[in-house]
Amino acid sequence: MILIVGGAGYIGSHINKELTKQGFKTVVFDNLSSGKKELVKWGEFFQGDLGNIEEIRKVFKDYQIEAVLHFAAFKAVGESVADPQKYYLNNVSNTLNLFKVMRENKVNKFIFSSSAATFGNPQYIPIDEKHPQSPINPYGETKLIVEHIMRDYSAAYDFRYVALRYFNACGADLEGETGEWQGSSSNLIPLTLDAAIGAREEIGIFGTDYPTPDGTCIRDYIHVTDLAEAHVLALKYLMEGGASDCFNLGNGKGFSVKEVVDMAKKVTEIDFKVTPKDRRAGDPPELIADSKKAKEILKWEPKYFDLETIMKSAWNWHKQFKKTV
Ligand SMILES: NC(=O)c1ccc[n+]([C@@H]2O[C@H](COP(=O)([O-])OP(=O)(O)OC[C@H]3O[C@@H](n4cnc5c(N)ncnc54)[C@H](O)[C@@H]3O)[C@@H](O)[C@H]2O)c1
Repeated sequence: MILIVGGAGYIGSHINKELTKQGFKTVVFDNLSSGKKELVKWGEFFQGDLGNIEEIRKVFKDYQIEAVLHFAAFKAVGESVADPQKYYLNNVSNTLNLFKVMRENKVNKFIFSSSAATFGNPQYIPIDEKHPQSPINPYGETKLIVEHIMRDYSAAYDFRYVALRYFNACGADLEGETGEWQGSSSNLIPLTLDAAIGAREEIGIFGTDYPTPDGTCIRDYIHVTDLAEAHVLALKYLMEGGASDCFNLGNGKGFSVKEVVDMAKKVTEIDFKVTPKDRRAGDPPELIADSKKAKEILKWEPKYFDLETIMKSAWNWHKQFKKTV
């Protein structure tokens, strides 16, 4: 049985589907703080909070857990600056509870949702695994601290891990079975689709004078189904005895804010309001991943990196929320 902590959320629900498709048995552990029971469509569900170690012990007692995938965290960068305690408690301290129970049960395989936010401002692009890690906000710090804890546990104990550092996760299941719940994210694509369904009045473009071809920031968008595939490959890698390691996951290409907004208008056929605004502090002009290592070692081949495919899959999911506003 594979334990998916945070499996009622956006990315975890896609991994749950992919693992099930590939024949794994899964159990989702989630407190539904941002996740939705409706997204747990595969495997078993155990409602519990990582802050409560007895609830973690219970899920390990009820199920024979072979490996753990950990998605449960808070992820809003701005909120982490305003309320760092909330982030250190949930993202770091609660992860230590999980590690404690894993060790009590001699479960030694772990896959962690890390982030491009561990790198901070890029010193060069594309960003590979050797790029220095120097986060510029508490959210990124929490992810880097967990990476360091895993490194130390792996050196000291019988514990092997894979840290997957996602760039911008995007899109939705191509069969429309799961996706990002409306209102649960401050990422650009769900926000543009919110503008399309009338759930927000406008989309602000923060900075139109960056040194990029159209003056707006460029980010690396990686389809959530490609992320799901990477997790299954990482799990098989650990099951086959692979050593602890970290991988950057992105599409290596990048789209500008303007390209994303224009594509949202094209795919939805809705002309929402777009307002140019001042730059935001700490937004680098360009963030692009180098994912060669994941391709070489995990044999990962992302498939859905075309912006139109990404947007269509996101819209196919997101438009259901139109009726709720
Ligand atoms: N979405 C992105 O673009 C992105 C990029 C890089 C990294 N990540 C990381 O990937 C992971 C998953 O992100 P997501 O976008 O699916 O977020 P999400 O909010 O949709 O999913 C997180 C899930 O964890 C659950 N959870 C949170 N705290 C919990 C706790 N204490 N106990 C039990 N369950 C808890 C939530 O209810 C939710 O279901 C996070 O760790 C996030 O930091 C996301």
